[in-house]
Amino acid sequence: MPAGPVPELEARAEACAERLRDADSVLLASHIDADGLTSAAVAASALERAGIPFDTVFSKQLDADEIAAIAATDHETVLFTDFGSGQLDIIADHEAAGEFTPVVADHHQPADADTEFHLNPLLFGIDGASELSGAGVSYVLARALETGSRSDNRDLAALAVVGAVGDMQDSEGALHGANEGIVEEGVEAGVLEANTDLTLYGKQTRPLPKLLEYASDVRIPGISNDHAGSISFLDGLGLHLKADGEWRRWADLSAEERQTVASALVRRAVASGVPADRINSLVGTAYTLVDEETGTELRDVSEFSTLLNATARYDRADVGLAVCLGDRDGALDRAQKLLRNHRRNLSEGLQWVKNEGVTVEENVQWFDAGTRIRETIVGIVAGMAVGASGISRSKPIVAFAEKGDGEVKVSARGSHFLTRKGLDLSAAMRDASRAVGGDGGGHNVAAGATIPAGEREAFVAEVDLIVGEQLG
Ligand code: C5P
Ligand code: C5P
Ligand code: ZN
Repeated sequence: MPAGPVPELEARAEACAERLRDADSVLLASHIDADGLTSAAVAASALERAGIPFDTVFSKQLDADEIAAIAATDHETVLFTDFGSGQLDIIADHEAAGEFTPVVADHHQPADADTEFHLNPLLFGIDGASELSGAGVSYVLARALETGSRSDNRDLAALAVVGAVGDMQDSEGALHGANEGIVEEGVEAGVLEANTDLTLYGKQTRPLPKLLEYASDVRIPGISNDHAGSISFLDGLGLHLKADGEWRRWADLSAEERQTVASALVRRAVASGVPADRINSLVGTAYTLVDEETGTELRDVSEFSTLLNATARYDRADVGLAVCLGDRDGALDRAQKLLRNHRRNLSEGLQWVKNEGVTVEENVQWFDAGTRIRETIVGIVAGMAVGASGISRSKPIVAFAEKGDGEVKVSARGSHFLTRKGLDLSAAMRDASRAVGGDGGGHNVAAGATIPAGEREAFVAEVDLIVGEQLG
């Protein structure tokens, strides 16, 4: 048996692949974020290449109703990607009733149940929050499904890396752990490059002043949120950073020019008293999809993942999936339009949170956006808000948004610093939501829940207590 990109998962992946090859027809069900879309694209490509007939569906949140609807289709095998583990108890009941055979390729905290074809890094001692994404697990499965054609499916590593970055698994500067095996295969297959570079968002598409001005992770006084300041910083470098009167983009610069800008930026950050750990986070590993055109969102994995979130989180998973599967005409245009809308929503949402501020409890901080922020992006906004003035990095942030139908969506975000001290937001979301008649789960560092409207206060009290116990 070949070693595969993640040896620990290999035997289980082979068993899952075998089961899929035996299936008459498969329903592929996946999650509506960047990782879920890339998971679906990786799995769909592999099924297609293996000649296995399948249909694809997406879901915002897999719950009992969604699983019942899936069970009602006439597919005898269901492949769940980027979700399923957290709902294995419900899935196992349908399996026991003979409705379908589940194959689950996921990286979320499993529910208290198991099934034969369950591929999840957490079952094999690998951290699902930071070392392998849903798309990564799907990639491991795709490699086991390979039929000897097309680089043995190793070209799909590009999408797996987009999924991992979409789930912020590079938040400490680079992908690590099991993800590294996937990066290596992508580089070998010639679809991916991994280089040390500036970590700022927008290296492919943003004109240089905007790249600097909008960078929010590391706040550099006189540059971040400062258009004129960014321009005067760039003007002072003695480089030709405009072409035909237009600002060039990072992707257009030569290696020497990049070096000059990056060094000056770091010097400026040091001189402005930015803390050393924030300065270090200015530089990291950047992943580039080498077959994509320079200057497009698709070439930079981070921009690619935002483009995907802009589709599926707005009920247009079909558009994102088509882009992942190579549609560079109609689908890309539509995705770019959706991206403009998504960007505007993120920036308005973030502004709203900054204006309103958060309520600080003993162990957590929270805000309730009501209908101001769409429930499918409130978690992204919460993550972006951390570090803004009045929103500390030292406590997890919990965000609420109205779902309609008498339900409230909860999103929680922490940090790896806090998970190392014992924070487990997945357990906190699950237990606190169940205490008020809801349900939830996710990862230790990022999780979510749905609760009945009217239970927010009781829920906050419960989460505050649980997180206090975890960190205490
Ligand atoms: O369902 P899924 O696993 O794809 O979603 C994980 C979510 O957790 C993503 O929205 C991702 O951005 C978020 N996350 C985060 N910070 C981390 C790791 C993940 O906000 N350090
Ligand atoms: O929706 P949000 O981006 O906040 O989700 C963060 C993480 O929590 C994701 O991995 C998501 O799959 C998970 N989640 C969950 N159950 C919910 C809501 C979110 O497992 N009810
Ligand atoms: Zn995921």
